[in-house]
Amino acid sequence: MVKDNSVTLKVKSIGENVSLVRMVVSGFLFPYDLTFEALDEIKIALSEAVSNCIIHGYENAEDQEVTVKMEVKEHQLTIQVIDTGIGIADIEQAMEPAFSTREEHMGLGFVFMQTFMDRIEVYSQPGQGTTVLLHKTLPAGEQKIDEVG
Ligand SMILES: Nc1ncnc2c1ncn2[C@@H]1O[C@H](COP(=O)(O)OP(=O)(O)OP(=O)(O)O)[C@@H](O)[C@H]1O
Ligand SMILES: [Mg+2]
Repeated sequence: MVKDNSVTLKVKSIGENVSLVRMVVSGFLFPYDLTFEALDEIKIALSEAVSNCIIHGYENAEDQEVTVKMEVKEHQLTIQVIDTGIGIADIEQAMEPAFSTREEHMGLGFVFMQTFMDRIEVYSQPGQGTTVLLHKTLPAGEQKIDEVG
């Protein structure tokens, strides 16, 4: 029986916190018996979402906040990545492969998120911010550890 769990993390909008978020999701998902590859794919998708908040949402301003809510409920992983930055005017266009509003970027973040997760949802209002939901069904195996601490 795999227990449900949830963790909410609020981090300052600095690039260093992308790796912090990756570490926390690794710890959060440890009990759920994922392969190394599956865990790595989730970490890549999440890194892309958090990087987007910092680079685009906050235009690299380092005094803002990104919220990451991780939840497992009945084998369904949902990770919400929330910023209160500039928002996205045209979500459909933003999600197109190779579309970027920044010259130095490849426009592949949403492609990675969509490739590595089962499903993603994007909600955004210009001037209000952006919320990205990353969904994935976890394997229905035994939990590695029952209790911690
Ligand atoms: N949180 C966000 N806030 C505002 N705009 C965003 C946000 N996330 C994505 N966008 C917009 O969507 C576009 C596409 O995002 P995507 O991650 O696919 O590519 P990119 O970030 O431009 O390039 P890459 O991820 O390859 O470095 C961005 O260029 C940006 O205009
Ligand atoms: Mg990106």
